[in-house]
Formats: sequence, structure tokens, C-alpha cells
Amino acid sequence: MKIKILGSGAGGGLPQWNCNCANCRRARLRRDDLLPRTQSSIAVSDNDVDWILVNASPDLLSQLRAHPDLQPARAMRDSGIAAVVLSDAQIDHVTGLLMLRERTTPLPLYACAPVLEDLSTGLPIVPLLGHYCGVRTHAIVPGKSFTIPACDGVRFTALAVDGKAPPYSPFRQGDVEGTNIALLIEDRIKGTRAFYAPGLAKMHGDVHAAMCGADLVLVDGTFWTATEMIDLGISTKHADDMGHLAQCGEGGRRGMMDWLDALPRGTRKVLTHINNTNPILDPHSDEHAQLRARGIDVAHDGMVFQV
Ligand code: MLT
Ligand code: MN
Ligand code: ZN
Repeated sequence: MKIKILGSGAGGGLPQWNCNCANCRRARLRRDDLLPRTQSSIAVSDNDVDWILVNASPDLLSQLRAHPDLQPARAMRDSGIAAVVLSDAQIDHVTGLLMLRERTTPLPLYACAPVLEDLSTGLPIVPLLGHYCGVRTHAIVPGKSFTIPACDGVRFTALAVDGKAPPYSPFRQGDVEGTNIALLIEDRIKGTRAFYAPGLAKMHGDVHAAMCGADLVLVDGTFWTATEMIDLGISTKHADDMGHLAQCGEGGRRGMMDWLDALPRGTRKVLTHINNTNPILDPHSDEHAQLRARGIDVAHDGMVFQV
């Protein structure tokens, strides 16, 4: 199977429209190799024609322009996007659904029950799309595998993870299973696996075990330190408040880098959903060098993995 990174940025992307931090300024001016990044999404295919979008970014249209191979042009009106799977109901992962409204058939949409509820209430994208192409919803159950007809060489398994529901959601403060999932994405013929979790607040044994069984681990790279936004004076939010485990540990707790170090030798490790404040975005930074020394890559838009 093939996995493409359509967008490797967190909410806001890089540069974020209203931000003048060093990363955003440099990415905006395009004077060096700090690459702009669109908001978080991947595409998965077992045949290079039919694609499953995992998360639908607000930048979806520019992502599709950057990937003309997602338009197979079999008919006057066509798309390679066969279905969308959602890992959560955050703005940066769902608002691209609105850009698919010109479809000529209902959109197959796979998400957990709390996410489908958010998208029918607080952010009513599903009923709204009913006035355009319509949506055919499929409830994902954490722990259960599913396949999607247009891409049935791939098996998806959702794992409930600790993370945050969006600020608009009544599930924000609670601990409801299914507001955030990781996906194990498996090539049914080759038996190869990718683990994808753009939002992961805390590591648990079952989640780490799933990561250990994957050939490719594509995981939450939002923040370098948990207090990054506070230290820059641009927010009062700690990484925990936003549902992300920072790369560096804090107060004796292990960071994402420590968990990635514990994966089997040979695992391809890639950080994605990277916030514009994160120093790893600069390929010449010390932080980036630390990742390289540990065998961890920093995702950029357009990266392709054959798994
Ligand atoms: C997050 O994952 O916390 C988001 O990127 C926030 C957002 O999209 O606003
Ligand atoms: Mn996000
Ligand atoms: Zn910025």
C-alpha cells in the first residue's frame, strides 16, 4: 500500500495566517529550506487509483492540486477520494469535508460515535452536507477492524487513545472513548502495517504495542516541549490541555522521543501534525539534529511511503 502525507502541519499550518514567530516568518518568505506545511492529513491506497483520506484538512483543495494523481479522470466528474476516515472532530481534520460537497454521490465517512455526534451537533457538517452530496456514515468501533470497499486490500483498526475532543465539543472535558483514535493500517496481502496517530496525549501499553508491530509509525509531532506555546508568550495552553504528548519528557514523564526510542530496530519513525512553533521544523536546528541522531524523521507535505 501507499501512504502519502498530504499535510504535515498542525492546526493553523505553517505559516499560520496571523503568526509572526520565527518559523512562520521564514516559511512565509520562502528564503531558506524551512518548508511551508498544510494542515494534517494522509491518503492511503492499495492500487494508486482509489484513495482513502484520513482526515479532511481545511487545506484539502490545495493538497489535491499538489497531488494530481488523486484525480484519475475516469469521467467528466471524478475523484480518487473513495472515502474519508476521521481520527477526531478537530477543525483541522474535518473542515475539508465541506470542500467535497460537489461530489455526485454521497460521501462514505468513517468515524467513531462521539465524532459523528460532534459533526451532527456542535459542528453540523454531516447534516449540512445533506443539502449537497450527502454523507453515508459508518461508525468505527475502537478495537474492531474494518475495510472500505474501494480499497479492500487495506485493513483499518482503530485504537482509542488519550487526546482532546475539540474546544466546541461537549466531550472536551470528559474521558469519552472514541473522541481520538489511532489507526493501524494494514496491507492485507503483504501483512505490512502503518500506525497513524496525529493526536496522542498519553502513551498506554496497548497503543505502544500497536506501534511496536508497525513498519511505519507516523505519530503526533505537535510540540517539542509541553510548554512551548507558553514559553513563546503566545498561549496559556500546555500540551496536555491540547491533547498532545511533546517530544521531550517533562517532570520525569517520558516524551514521544523516549517512546519512539523503545520501538524495534528498523521501524520507520516519522513525526507529523507539527505545530508552527516547533523548532524541529527548521532542518538546521539542534532539535532536528537530535531527532536525526535517534533515527526519527520530520514529515513534510508530499512525503510518500510504500509500506
Ligand atoms: C490540535 O490538534 O490541537 C489542533 O491542531 C487545534 C486546531 O486545529 O485548532
Ligand atoms: Mn490538530
Ligand atoms: Zn508561528
